[in-house]
Amino acid sequence: MEHQTDINKAVRQHAEMAEYFSGGITVKKFTAEHAETTTKEIKLNPVNSEVSALRKNASLETIKEIDGIAEESRRCRKCDLGELRTNAVPGEGSPSARIMFVGEAPGADEDAQGRPFVGRAGQLLDKIIAACGLKRQDVWIGNILKCRPPDNRDPRPEEIVACLPFLQRQIELINPEVIVALGAHAAKTLLDTPKSIGQLRGLFHDYVPGIGHRPIKLMPTFHPAYLLRNYSDENRRKVWEDMKKVLTEIGLPIP
Ligand code: URA
Repeated sequence: MEHQTDINKAVRQHAEMAEYFSGGITVKKFTAEHAETTTKEIKLNPVNSEVSALRKNASLETIKEIDGIAEESRRCRKCDLGELRTNAVPGEGSPSARIMFVGEAPGADEDAQGRPFVGRAGQLLDKIIAACGLKRQDVWIGNILKCRPPDNRDPRPEEIVACLPFLQRQIELINPEVIVALGAHAAKTLLDTPKSIGQLRGLFHDYVPGIGHRPIKLMPTFHPAYLLRNYSDENRRKVWEDMKKVLTEIGLPIP
């Protein structure tokens, strides 16, 4: 029974990955019956979640501090967005994540739920994560801003200045092996550079958490919302190339 569940899971993951890279964005439903026939034809890939589960757990202290940051961000009034939000979106995931995904700012769905990347762009991010053989719980997902800018306008410099210390501290505590910066705002802010996402993506850069800290590898890639708007084979391939570099960098198999 457990074996069947594993097969179902692996087949579903394979289907999601194939779906993502073949152009669709809906996840097909696979039945146990389908799993039985399909597993004869496809070679199952290793599931990276099992690899990342080998990583040591975060200390209680780290978890408490991450929770404290979340609480503080929910009370924050350091910029005008504090007045406008329904919910702050502090970020979520594994406190010992090896990979952190950082986006721009919450949108309407995220503001309503207080959780990052839960709208359409989030569904695509979920597929990218699944294509890597990982689950949302294996990684950490956050944003440059914790609160939604009205009408999803770009973050303003004063908002970034007010909010960034939360994320900087989260990165220090989680101490991932790689940060994936989703889109121009995340990449330019974390790398403190005016270069475009086109110039930055596809290459590892160093994010320096602070004096005395080792640099953390940062891979800029296209934001899932950009990918949804520009859903070409070429752009999808570029994102997958970027993610393959991330997996290779931390020694995880490429599904
Ligand atoms: N876009 C982002 O940058 N972040 C989210 O959380 C959702 C959409």
